Amino acid sequence: MLKGDKPALMTLLRGTPEFKPDEVVVAEEVIDSYLADPAGSGYNTVVAQEGAAIKGYICYGPTPLTEGAWDIYWLAVAPGEQGKGVGGSLLAYAEDRIKEANGRLAIIETSSLPSYEKTRRFYLKRGYEVIASLPDFYAPGDDKIILQKQLKQ
Ligand SMILES: CC(C)(COP(=O)(O)OP(=O)(O)OC[C@H]1O[C@@H](n2cnc3c(N)ncnc32)[C@H](O)[C@@H]1OP(=O)(O)O)[C@@H](O)C(=O)NCCC(=O)NCCS
Repeated sequence: MLKGDKPALMTLLRGTPEFKPDEVVVAEEVIDSYLADPAGSGYNTVVAQEGAAIKGYICYGPTPLTEGAWDIYWLAVAPGEQGKGVGGSLLAYAEDRIKEANGRLAIIETSSLPSYEKTRRFYLKRGYEVIASLPDFYAPGDDKIILQKQLKQ
């Protein structure tokens, strides 16, 4: 991701109905951390682009104080571009980079809400398994679902 990509990426995030406005604020803070210090922020941010159009992005980084665990912090594809393989390509790209850095675990946190059903299916199809859920974590009736994938070198 380059600085000039930010306006298009913010439009994409604001246009993703799954993300609440306060989540978009946090996503922007993370993007700004990356742009201020791409190598040192711990938030690797990569956009999927076709011509000038930003189709999606992924943000991932090593989980502090672990040996080889990595977090996938954010993944989003523009609503009109979903279901065409962009998200799968971004995830595979991040997993390859994590493996190159000797990472062994990729971890994703998501929500149990019905609006995230397709998202959960997306991860399960790509080898992630649910390893924990924290009942009522985000809000009453909205659990945190933690998914994990063991990355083979
Ligand atoms: C989840 C997400 C990143 C997947 O990206 P994508 O580009 O749509 O995914 P792909 O095209 O690579 O894969 C499609 C698969 O994902 C699932 N999927 C998830 N959301 C989908 C959608 N809106 N349309 C079609 N398929 C979707 C389907 O199970 C589909 O399975 P298939 O391969 O059998 O068709 C994307 O739908 C998205 O941005 N969703 C909203 C934000 C979100 O939930 N982000 C993750 C937060 S943890």
